Formats: sequence, structure tokens, C-alpha cells
Amino acid sequence: MRLLAISGSLRRGSYNSALLQAAAAGCARSSQFVIWRGLDELPHYNEDLDQTPSAVAQLRDEIEHANAVLIATPEYNGSIPGALKNALDWASRPFPDNCLRRKPVAVIGASTGLFGARWAQADLRKVLKTIGASVLETELPIAAAHEAFSPEGQLREPHLAVSLCGIVGELLQRTLRDAA
Ligand code: FNR
Repeated sequence: MRLLAISGSLRRGSYNSALLQAAAAGCARSSQFVIWRGLDELPHYNEDLDQTPSAVAQLRDEIEHANAVLIATPEYNGSIPGALKNALDWASRPFPDNCLRRKPVAVIGASTGLFGARWAQADLRKVLKTIGASVLETELPIAAAHEAFSPEGQLREPHLAVSLCGIVGELLQRTLRDAA
């Protein structure tokens, strides 16, 4: 099982990227966990472009070849960051037969605020459903993300670590169910 992990943050020290690293290290031992790092390479979506930019082709290819996708989103002003929305707009075309159609996707998120990017996760699920993905209704709000990780990169709160692996497990189950 190939699981593609996408962080919605461009920041080097991103807590959302750390969350995906924690999932890769602790949750998906029986799966191939691939972390996509091309977010910064994508041009702004422009319907006038005649040719598909190579960074976009690579993103679509990664999604196509993944059995499932796990996205960790920051929250910017109550919603998802523009760079992540831009990537999803690229992935959504051509519509409706895009690379995300019926693809099992789970959403998690971390923010330094009190609510753990809940609004961003809700918006992200809405966008993914609009695109046609098979979206899990689960969420993982990691609040006060600057205090949430140990120096080794693990979630300090055991119940959050359990929830993280629970969501990865549900995503893999959904993938098996959808493929049956
Ligand atoms: C934020 N942050 C933030 N946090 C939050 O809980 N709700 C919000 O609406 C916002 N809005 C917001 C806007 C902008 C432009 C920035 C730069 C930041 C704080 C945000 O949670 C924090 O920067 C996280 O560390 C971002 O995630 P990464 O980059 O660590 O993954």
C-alpha cells in the first residue's frame, strides 16, 4: 500500500510536516509512506496555460500512483493556506476525471492556536469532496503545536499519538474497502 503524505506548509520547521513525519515513523509500518515535497515548485494555477508544468505533472503522477493520501494542513486566517489550495486546484483538473477522484483521503492538522486548525481541516474536507475524493470524516486537531512534539519528533500526548495512528489505520481500511 502506497500512502502519499502532503504537508500544506512551506515552512522548514513546519509542525504539519512534523506531524506527517510522526505518522511515517509510528503508524504505517506495513505501508510505503511517501512524503511529497513539491509544494513550493508549483506555479499559480492558470487556466490559460497550454502545457502542463512539470511540477504539476509530477504531483498528479504521485497522487495517481498512491493508494491513499494523507494531508496535514496548517490554518491561515481560519482556512487552508493558499499554496495548498493551489496544489489541489491543479490536482482537480481535468474535472471530473482527475487524479483525486474516488481516492481515499484523510485530513489532519496542527496550529499554534487553541483549536488545532479545525476550520482549515473542515474547509479542506469540503474542497476534497468537491474535487471528488473519497474523504474520511475524521479530524486530528493538534493545538499549541509548538508544544506538541518531543525533541525526537513524537507527539507528547499519548492520546494524540493513538488518534494519529487510528486515522492512518482508518485510511488504509477505507482504501481496502473501496478497492474491494
Ligand atoms: C497563522 N496561524 C493561525 N493559527 C490558527 O490556529 N488559526 C489561524 O487562523 C491562523 N492564521 C494564521 C495566518 C497566517 C498568515 C500565519 C502565518 C499563521 C498560526 C499557525 O497555526 C502557525 O504559524 C503554524 O505553525 C503553521 O503551521 P506550520 O507551518 O508550522 O505547519
